[in-house]
Amino acid sequence: MSLAGNTSIFKWFSSFTRENANFRQSFWKWWYNYLAKKYAKVDEWTCMNYGYLASPFHGNPKLEFTSKMLYEKACAEVELEGKSVVEIGCGRGGGLNYLHEQRKLGSAIGVDLSEHNITFCQRRFNRSGLSYLVGSADDMPLADASADVVINVESSHIYPDFPKFIQEAIRVLKPGGTFCFTDFRSSELFPPILEAVKKSGFQILVHEDISKNVRYGLDADAKNRLDLIQKHIPSWLTSPVSQFAGVPGSKFYNDLKSGETVYFLIQARKP
Ligand SMILES: C[S@@+](CC[C@H](N)C(=O)[O-])C[C@H]1O[C@@H](n2cnc3c(N)ncnc32)[C@H](O)[C@@H]1O
Repeated sequence: MSLAGNTSIFKWFSSFTRENANFRQSFWKWWYNYLAKKYAKVDEWTCMNYGYLASPFHGNPKLEFTSKMLYEKACAEVELEGKSVVEIGCGRGGGLNYLHEQRKLGSAIGVDLSEHNITFCQRRFNRSGLSYLVGSADDMPLADASADVVINVESSHIYPDFPKFIQEAIRVLKPGGTFCFTDFRSSELFPPILEAVKKSGFQILVHEDISKNVRYGLDADAKNRLDLIQKHIPSWLTSPVSQFAGVPGSKFYNDLKSGETVYFLIQARKP
């Protein structure tokens, strides 16, 4: 059963926020702060992305498995062991913590615009070599040439100044460092994104449309998402939150299926 409800208001909202970049940034900052304050004690919820699976899966994956697989895919074939890694737009911190644990990062810094997300991350993942800072993608609180790898997962669609974000990613990377970038856009906006990354001086290593795999993730994870929503969300909010969670039947899910929205992966190197 879908809880996604009527999608027309979300169609209007998506096109309005696409055209109004500063409003979009303020709205999402407010929304992520609201969620982080309201669900500050929900420790099982640490990832906020649509997830990824290499192939369809017909069981019930563990909670957040598909979201962590999106991090694996974003960094596939990239050497992370012992490296200094930065994530911009780290959300509730679970993806970076997963990589820190599984891929033996040297050091890891998560940066997010939402101060309440960062408070959650600092309490939830209090481990040596892993830290979280408040900061913005267009003015990163990080020194020049300080990171081997910059990761960005499902966050850039919110930024008001995408070219500035790319300039900042180049600035904080060491020469030879890798940018692991994954997000979604309406299909006509993906080619200009790839072009902007190329023009900034990055050398593109990989670019891939992973929309189908994100749908595999959403299909497999639907029950987990709906269970979490029913457990924590008041009934009047279940429909908008189900839209936000991308459950089958939501606008995001349908747009991914029709090709109107593309979920892409870019890996690029700073020369
Ligand atoms: C969909 S969540 C993804 C979080 C995380 N990457 C994950 O996959 O779980 C998007 C995140 O981007 C953050 N964000 C939005 N605009 C930002 C900006 N300008 N600078 C840094 N973070 C930003 C939001 O606060 C939110 O935590």
